[in-house]
Amino acid sequence: MSLAFLLAASAAAAHEGATGVVAQRMDIMKQMGQHMKTLGTMLTGKTAFDQGTAQRLAETMHQHCEHVAHMFPPGSDGHHTEATPAVWTNRAEFDASMRRLDAAVEELMAAAASGDKVQLVAKFKAVGQECSGCHDTFRQKK
Ligand code: HEC
Repeated sequence: MSLAFLLAASAAAAHEGATGVVAQRMDIMKQMGQHMKTLGTMLTGKTAFDQGTAQRLAETMHQHCEHVAHMFPPGSDGHHTEATPAVWTNRAEFDASMRRLDAAVEELMAAAASGDKVQLVAKFKAVGQECSGCHDTFRQKK
């Protein structure tokens, strides 16, 4: 997967003008991006590995998934969103993609709890693939 993609995504300019649920979901997505970045720097050895931190990050991401899944209500497709219309026209696939992310993050949590770094790296990559997999279809390209 492309880590550069995730980093670029989290470095995207702030979206002035977005309000309400659109601003909230952007904020949660951004936080997930930051957690992935923190975890990624730890897993590549750029920062010291700390199991407790890995567990905390994975658990927070899990909460974020659960929240963000409910933040794409019908009618929230204007307001400076970067979501593509497909979120609302192809809802079944969008929801399925959210569920896959949730499942991947649950596996990430389990790997973090076990402290097995090899597993953790594998699950981290799997989560990253779910992020980009959804963005490919449901998030506007820059
Ligand atoms: C099921 C689809 C889906 C999944 C899975 C998903 N995203 Fe997103 N993401 C979106 C959509 C849609 C937007 C655009 C939201 C908007 O602008 O209203 C977005 C926006 C973003 C943004 C930009 C936020 C901003 O500041 O505007 C970041 C960063 C991001 N996602 C990171 C992630 C990360 C990291 C993951 C995986 C842990 C992830 N996303 C998983 C659909 C998804």
